[in-house]
Amino acid sequence: MKTLLAGKKILFGICGSIAAYKAAEWVRELVKAEAEVSVVMTEAATHFVSGLTFASLSGRRVYTGMFEKDAGEEMTHITLARECDLFVIAPATAQTIAKLAHGFADDLLSVLVLAGNTKVLVFPAMNSNMYCHKATQANLFKLQEYGYTVIEPEQGKLACGDDGVGRLVDWKTAREKIVSVFTRQDLQGQTVLISAGPTWESYDPARLLSNRSSGKMGYALARVAKRRGARVILVSGPSAIDPPPGVEMINVMTGIEMHDAILAKYESADIVVMAAAVSDYRPGKKMKQKVKKSGTSIELELIPNPDILKILGYKKKKAIRPLLVGFAAESKGHVEEGRRKLKEKNLDLIVINDIIGTDTGFGADTNEVSLIDRNYQLEKLPLRSKEECAEMIWDKIVNLNR
Ligand code: CTP
Repeated sequence: MKTLLAGKKILFGICGSIAAYKAAEWVRELVKAEAEVSVVMTEAATHFVSGLTFASLSGRRVYTGMFEKDAGEEMTHITLARECDLFVIAPATAQTIAKLAHGFADDLLSVLVLAGNTKVLVFPAMNSNMYCHKATQANLFKLQEYGYTVIEPEQGKLACGDDGVGRLVDWKTAREKIVSVFTRQDLQGQTVLISAGPTWESYDPARLLSNRSSGKMGYALARVAKRRGARVILVSGPSAIDPPPGVEMINVMTGIEMHDAILAKYESADIVVMAAAVSDYRPGKKMKQKVKKSGTSIELELIPNPDILKILGYKKKKAIRPLLVGFAAESKGHVEEGRRKLKEKNLDLIVINDIIGTDTGFGADTNEVSLIDRNYQLEKLPLRSKEECAEMIWDKIVNLNR
């Protein structure tokens, strides 16, 4: 499957900020994702990073001035502006933001913004006082009025030594913003509640009962839903994965905590996807002290955890909302088990996961799932990365949600 950015023509404007060095990584990642990247630098930007760096990374000529000697007959600004699918400006300085807000056209970058009519993503980066100054804020407001998307910088330690807002966002956040420009916004206006990862059921201060779920599939579903325009609430058991940019995270440990978090948010959701591997049991007695070995067998009483999805299915009865999606982690009898769970839990869709194969299920980067919808239609999806699987699962959910 092609990457979402393959063949996309991206014009990448770089301004004179110390964060310009970070743009090198962004350009490299875009090229890796098979985008065609043309870089335009302001004169100030060339004092921070060499044009040669970006020429080497993009494999293309870097543009810096309007009157370059070898430009020939071609009108660079019109051609570049006309041909691009997206204009990314990162880092965007207070100076360039002010220029764009007032329609100045005194360097190639600002001319290209005026001459083009594609989507513009502006990623500001500067000292926090400069960023918070009323003049900059008013200019950013104007850019949004013009239809440009401004991505708020992060809080943190700045290159000037100050602590505050003004740091260029990281690549993961930028990537999601860029990819969403090329993604159907078919989940816009929908609130999506997703659970992911395992639960940890404590036995004593040292030991717990859990399972092999990594959270990768649930996190991929959350990332893709956010990209497609949804408000996403992700309730996650313990997982080593970074939270997807822009999602509302609720971290939980146990099945009971997951139950409480899901039930607290359930009513605001249009769609609920339970991708978490909730432990069916928890130790009956939680020991305050570490249990010492005695050399003989011991018995461990396990008591059932609430079946969260079954509770949601029961609450929903015949209502249309929220649309309920479950996962079935199976090692045999996949389709029969999927059908049984779909019916028993009153679901709209069940995603059946094979947990035995090496390329599928817990911990793998890929997955091969089957879907059964509320009309008992079975659809087998091909082996793909978990992110591509998430795309296909959302395609199905969006269809069912119409
Ligand atoms: N689930 C849940 N609460 C539980 C257990 C499971 O909400 N206590 C949800 C899972 O998130 C998943 C679906 O129910 O979406 C099916 O989970 P799975 O572990 O495959 O099946 P179980 O219901 O536990 O049934 P079984 O043990 O028979 O496989």
